[in-house]
Amino acid sequence: MAQQEDMFKKLISHSKEYGFVFPSSELYDGLGAVYDYGQNGVELKNNIKKYWWDSMTLLHENVTGIDSAIFMHPTIWKASGHVDAFNDPLIDNKDSKKRYRADVLIEDLIAKYEDKINKEVEKAAKRFGDAFDTQKFLETNPRVLENEAKKKELHERFAKAMNENNLEELRQIIVDYEIVCPVSGSRNWTEVRQFNLMFSTEMGSVADGATRIYLRPETAQGIFVNFLNVQKSGRMKIPFGIAQIGKAFRNEIVARQFVFRMREFEQMEMQFFVRPGEELKWFEQWKQTRMKWHQALGLGEKKYRFHDHDKLAHYANAATDIEFEMPFGFKEIEGIHSRTDFDLSSHEKYSGKKIQYFDPELNKSYVPYVVETSIGVDRMFLSVLAGSYGEEELEGGDTRVVLRLPPALAPVKLAVLPLVKKDGLPEKAREIIDRLKFDFRCQYDEKDSIGKRYRRQDAIGTPYCITIDHDTMTDNCVTIRYRDTMEQERVPVAGLERIVPEKVSMKQLLKQIAKS
Ligand code: GAP
Repeated sequence: MAQQEDMFKKLISHSKEYGFVFPSSELYDGLGAVYDYGQNGVELKNNIKKYWWDSMTLLHENVTGIDSAIFMHPTIWKASGHVDAFNDPLIDNKDSKKRYRADVLIEDLIAKYEDKINKEVEKAAKRFGDAFDTQKFLETNPRVLENEAKKKELHERFAKAMNENNLEELRQIIVDYEIVCPVSGSRNWTEVRQFNLMFSTEMGSVADGATRIYLRPETAQGIFVNFLNVQKSGRMKIPFGIAQIGKAFRNEIVARQFVFRMREFEQMEMQFFVRPGEELKWFEQWKQTRMKWHQALGLGEKKYRFHDHDKLAHYANAATDIEFEMPFGFKEIEGIHSRTDFDLSSHEKYSGKKIQYFDPELNKSYVPYVVETSIGVDRMFLSVLAGSYGEEELEGGDTRVVLRLPPALAPVKLAVLPLVKKDGLPEKAREIIDRLKFDFRCQYDEKDSIGKRYRRQDAIGTPYCITIDHDTMTDNCVTIRYRDTMEQERVPVAGLERIVPEKVSMKQLLKQIAKS
């Protein structure tokens, strides 16, 4: 665990040192849970967004995109339920004066039981080697069974309290399980209270009677209120989807874990409109489609898992998360929800306008049902970074930090490095960049030894480096070096146009999802 935390700290400082993520307003000592993306971070983030957007809108003929405004009519948030129910249960520790989410304190304890079980399994697997039978061990080991029983009991009590919105019971669980404040170490807790997560501001001048509006806490509502616009103007037939990427804002109280939980973040959401009664079939289909999207990145199949919700939101009839193994455990990066006709029906009610679809095959009108896929760009970014980060011992006692980023997502695809700063080598390097820069991002670097330059590129995940040496001037060949294997080979300059895109192009990645 300490090792994992250590690794997470390294990842955060690496992100800063190499221009991926900076704390926002750092000059003024920062602003809680708000971050800026640096020169490499913005490229990685844009590539993630492109991967998602293209997979949605190119691979699915019936998914189209929009870009709706952040500010929306305030009644939208009444209709969506956010004004009344977008709350977190909060509890304060009276000694440290720190505020926590009561559900997170309990979930952390459940995760501790899980950790204990996993540690027992790891220990035993080491001891017994090939002969180890995980399933049998899980079913028979007394310590595992004891922790499993404690976990189950706590889990059931917690799920019931959450489902019933029972704040007193949440507090009682914290008391009964003797959960302490991580800062003061005491159990001196306040009551549990609900806290609305939406940010609000005012539109128009106060003298005129300003309207209180909200910064959207999800992009989804911009899609729902444009359902008819898109359906009619695009002559869309059900089933079809609307995709959107954009900023969302939540006044998170427990804002920690770097870009995992932010107050300003970005979402990539797709609402898929289907016939009533067909939603669970589509829910299953989108679950599989989205998992393939993640796994095509090659960060390791075991790093992802589904986690079905215990507590279904009042509007959902099925919901699951895709979780990724972060340095701080398996965590949600994407939610897939079957949202029934809740949102569209509610907007019908609040706006007083019909939001229906005439199905020519059924010869009747209905309010469509919705299956939603919703992923946070920043969490996805963190998963890619964490899944790619590696520290390696090299021959000769040297070490390197390497980001084994999926090549299509890497901020820089090719580094062009003249061996020396003279004899026409820099000019030759520039000439190569001028030829290739239209197809992918190249970076020129002539400073320091070639070894140091390789280390810098490894640290930002550049899949290819080429060195220009004196022979290049006569044979028009360069030495290409591969990030992951560090192998080098001599290739003609003309071959780069084929070699590099083979791995780095988004097209290759998309083809992989399409065939899997
Ligand atoms: N429209 C559904 C919706 O917003 P959600 O589970 O609240 O569902 C969807 O959010 C995704 O948005 C999450 O899986 C996560 O990736 C991302 N997300 C939510 N809150 C976030 C936060 N405070 N910081 C970063 N990402 C967040």
